Amino acid sequence: MRKLLLQLDSSRLPSVFDQIVAYDAGADVVLSYGGVTEGDVRDLIHGCIFTRGPKDLHNTAVWIGGNNMSAGEQLLAMAQDSLFAPFSVSIMLDSNGSNTTAVAAVVRIEEALGDMTGKKVVILAGTGPVGQRAAGLLAHDGARVTITSRKPEQGEKARQFISARFNVQVDAFTVNDPSQLPQVLDGAEVLLNSGPAGVQMVPQAVWTAAKTLKIAVDLNAVPPLGIEGVEVNDAGKKRNGVLVFGAFGVGNFKTSLHKACVARLFTRNDLVLDAEAIAEIARELVKKKKP
Ligand SMILES: NC(=O)c1ccc[n+]([C@@H]2O[C@H](COP(=O)([O-])OP(=O)(O)OC[C@H]3O[C@@H](n4cnc5c(N)ncnc54)[C@H](OP(=O)(O)O)[C@@H]3O)[C@@H](O)[C@H]2O)c1
Repeated sequence: MRKLLLQLDSSRLPSVFDQIVAYDAGADVVLSYGGVTEGDVRDLIHGCIFTRGPKDLHNTAVWIGGNNMSAGEQLLAMAQDSLFAPFSVSIMLDSNGSNTTAVAAVVRIEEALGDMTGKKVVILAGTGPVGQRAAGLLAHDGARVTITSRKPEQGEKARQFISARFNVQVDAFTVNDPSQLPQVLDGAEVLLNSGPAGVQMVPQAVWTAAKTLKIAVDLNAVPPLGIEGVEVNDAGKKRNGVLVFGAFGVGNFKTSLHKACVARLFTRNDLVLDAEAIAEIARELVKKKKP
């Protein structure tokens, strides 16, 4: 029986990236819908679940993507609400790659530092989808997480959202100028840049002066890079005594994880792959690779 992936994308044009990765991960056919809104979801999901008997439904799965994470979350909630036993299909949410990217970074950080309990993590521009996911996962693992934002109200909104979604406490800190960075980096062991593409967020002199820093991860692949002095291909290199990862250093694992998650969707018909479940799959992948 052919493996069918129903792609529900909140953006007008369904992501070609997500389609190609789905085929590479083993989907036989991707049924792509763009501009999907909450009101569209029930009928689309019912089209999935009433066409194959329950024992075959692991061959049908749903992918939720698009540029807007909160739209993706609404689609996920609606899709889950449209399922009822035994008519269920597995679903994954990865709007704009946010879950897989955040998880790839978090797993690299945890591999380097082990138990995160009490460790201070600073997530630059942590108000975006990737930063929020990473903040939630790291705080959930016991880290003391501070996200930064240029605007106090934006930082506070994200802080509240992360706290509610992951049932954790995180701090928000306003940074309008690099001169404010030493204060937030004081005592930090982890620096994660989740700022936008093509924006330098931290000058080299600032992060190299942070004496407690053990690992720095930059997710921006577009020059100028986000953490000055960390190269895009860095993958566990030591620079100034700090273990560093650039966007491609994390991105390779992100792509393997993305594929592994899509393949996993077709193993059963009741999975919901959001940040935490994707993190579990990532940890399994890392364990498998270890000799
Ligand atoms: N490797 C991959 O596969 C992959 C996949 C997805 C994303 N990414 C990368 O991951 C990073 C984070 O992605 P995202 O979608 O979460 O980011 P985003 O939403 O584009 O931006 C994150 C935050 O950056 C701040 N920001 C925006 N413009 C800024 C500017 N000019 N200067 C300083 N801060 C600014 C905003 O926060 P405030 O307004 O609160 O300051 C925004 O919430 C990006 O670099 C993206 O390219 C990589």
